[in-house]
Amino acid sequence: MERKNVPYQKTIFVCTNAREGGRVACGNPGRGGMELCEALKDSVKRLGLKGKVRVARSGCLDLCEKGPNAFVYPDGQWYSGIGPRDVPELIKKLESAGG
Ligand code: FES
Repeated sequence: MERKNVPYQKTIFVCTNAREGGRVACGNPGRGGMELCEALKDSVKRLGLKGKVRVARSGCLDLCEKGPNAFVYPDGQWYSGIGPRDVPELIKKLESAGG
């Protein structure tokens, strides 16, 4: 096993889990998790934050009814019911040194 420091200042884990059969999930069509993830990735790239900020797709975070859900490492902040309209505020959090 190789070990090294995390190369990113911050990582946002965005739930993009999708389910079939009518069960609610952040990544289901119309729920917005996938669109949120793509909007965050686009902003990170456009703002030159690549290499500092990582947008990572996540599996189910176990708060499906409140989704789309995401959390930021190492801030320890959790966000629910988020969508593309929240991207500017989330980017500010990701750019900031603190939480
Ligand atoms: S599917 Fe996103 S929290 Fe469960």
